[in-house]
Amino acid sequence: MTGYFITFEGGEGAGKTTILQAIANQLTEEGYEVIATREPGGIEIAEKIRSVILDPSHTSMDGRTEALLYAAARRQHLVEKVLPALKHGKIVLCDRFIDSSLAYQGHARGLGMDEVYKINEFAIEDCMPDLTLLFDIKPDEGLNRIQANSCREKNRLDLEEIRFHEMVYEAYQLLLNKFPQRIHSIDAHPSIAEVEQQAYKKVKAFIGNM
Ligand code: TYD
Repeated sequence: MTGYFITFEGGEGAGKTTILQAIANQLTEEGYEVIATREPGGIEIAEKIRSVILDPSHTSMDGRTEALLYAAARRQHLVEKVLPALKHGKIVLCDRFIDSSLAYQGHARGLGMDEVYKINEFAIEDCMPDLTLLFDIKPDEGLNRIQANSCREKNRLDLEEIRFHEMVYEAYQLLLNKFPQRIHSIDAHPSIAEVEQQAYKKVKAFIGNM
């Protein structure tokens, strides 16, 4: 039996992390076996790579180095955590995956989505998500939300110019058009509770035949 690999994507401040946790709790209460995890990170080695990538003092990090580090963290997380869970029939909810690299490094950093896809193909082999929820929020609104939430840690990518985040937004729209079967867009402008409801419905519809 294989489980379901569901990824949550979107720009900064879309609320996806909070919503992912709420959906994981809800599904667990309903009796599903669920793991909630995140990228970059989720396991010790990948969390260490995360701290190198996101350290605000690492201003000289080259774009390709950044892309390779994300791919390396992804590989280790997949092998150590995601694949074993899927093998046991669990539902894996993962905060960000390959689409983040395509959007942030491929498009916004200008490395090219096809180039970044290639290194990720090496990292993930053929393990693409079964379903991806894209939390759609305009960059200026997302960044305002982050600023309003003073508890949230600011990382190196949060510090990018608004243009960078607009490119990320644009990239996600390109990906939505490219993978219409896999990626489902969710309007993230309403309240977190409403967005959570929409996301929960999508996930339930997808796993409904389990
Ligand atoms: P995080 O604090 O988890 O941000 P968020 O709550 O927005 O998910 O930090 C992850 C950052 O790393 C975020 O700015 C997006 C970025 N990122 C990439 O640039 N490429 C990637 O492949 C991944 C997984 C994340």
